[in-house]
Amino acid sequence: MSERVELLLEGGSLLFPDPTLLSPDRQGREEPLLRNGSVALADGKIVAVGPTDELAGRFVAAEKLALNGRLVTPGLVDSHTHLVFAGDRSAEFAQRCAGASYEEIAAAGGGIRASVRATRQASEEELYALAAPRVRRMLDFGSTTIEIKSGYGLYLETELRMLRVIRRLDRETPARVVATFCGAHEIPDEFQSDRGGFLDLVCESMIPRVVEEELAEFCDVFCEHGVFTPDESERVLNVGREAGLRPKIHADELAASGGSEVAAKVGAVSADHLMHITDEGIAGLKERGVVPTLLPGTTFYLGKHHYAPARRLLDAGLPVAIATDRNPGSCTIESLPFVAGLACLSMGLTPVEALRGTTEHGARALGREGSRGRLAAGLDADFVIWEAQRPEQVIYEFGNATPRHVYVGGKCVGGWKSRG
Ligand code: NIG
Ligand code: FE
Repeated sequence: MSERVELLLEGGSLLFPDPTLLSPDRQGREEPLLRNGSVALADGKIVAVGPTDELAGRFVAAEKLALNGRLVTPGLVDSHTHLVFAGDRSAEFAQRCAGASYEEIAAAGGGIRASVRATRQASEEELYALAAPRVRRMLDFGSTTIEIKSGYGLYLETELRMLRVIRRLDRETPARVVATFCGAHEIPDEFQSDRGGFLDLVCESMIPRVVEEELAEFCDVFCEHGVFTPDESERVLNVGREAGLRPKIHADELAASGGSEVAAKVGAVSADHLMHITDEGIAGLKERGVVPTLLPGTTFYLGKHHYAPARRLLDAGLPVAIATDRNPGSCTIESLPFVAGLACLSMGLTPVEALRGTTEHGARALGREGSRGRLAAGLDADFVIWEAQRPEQVIYEFGNATPRHVYVGGKCVGGWKSRG
């Protein structure tokens, strides 16, 4: 007897399906694409993935969608953003165009601290109204799961306000939003001569309240010369971990700051940026199973040329994730397909590696490997249908590659075709 499902997607090219469905190609390497494949969905989950003939015989579907050979990927997972903020830093952008560096602007009181000043002035309502359209656009680029960090509040009430906005974005937009507390993002103006006092505030006041109100799942720190030292970062991440927040870290972005070593020490879920990671740093990530998350949009947007050593990380057997870092200062890019394209052109990833970085490995960077990032039975029915037959066509189109349909939990929530 046939099983009933809500929706059957028929006759597509499915990227990252269950590996048992793949046959080795002529070079003996698996190409992670199932041609003429179908996906059956019910109750927000993938019920089955397999050859079209087989699924057509197994299921009776309330609705069918003919894919006509189109590429289906798992929903993209953007595992590192700072998209809740007020104000803009276009004046700093112009200064950078005229030769000033990001570090110089930050040292002069701009940078993150400028966004903190603007964000502190904004109400919860205003912050939500600014952030929701960003989430909406990112969904239309194919990002179905989006991590968002606090870190432009930097005192108790404004950090909590940011996290409440992040929770509302999860509840009130179709995207799945994952919250990270990043109170140790920068030293705010009023603590410039009392960094110890600010760290006490983060550890003794902010973390307990964030945990008590269940406002975040992860804790992140900006470990960098001129921001937080490795020892300070370790302290914050350990306090967070003991309170129940899983550690993440901004590491080795502008210099080899010791951040990757801290990631290994505290057993972080991910270490992010890594432009200047050392060989010892790579070995530590490998040993502790830390996911390296690369943000090439930031290197590009800062006008730098020193990209993270993606190939060395992949050669070490690490699951390299790729994310946008969407924020008001160092990267305003919202399109994860664009950033995946940069990962190919600037860091030498193949299109399939870049797409794996924005799906399967992005899900790992958020501890969601059991529910997202692949097309397999039992996982959330989050996927993207593209105007393409092959993965490299999405990457080749860069930012133009806008999805036809974007599904979250089995419901079509974005893509140009959803607007008729
Ligand atoms: O990931 N590195 C720290 N945070 C952001 C920058 C945020 C900002 O400039 O506002 C980043 O690059
Ligand atoms: Fe960041």
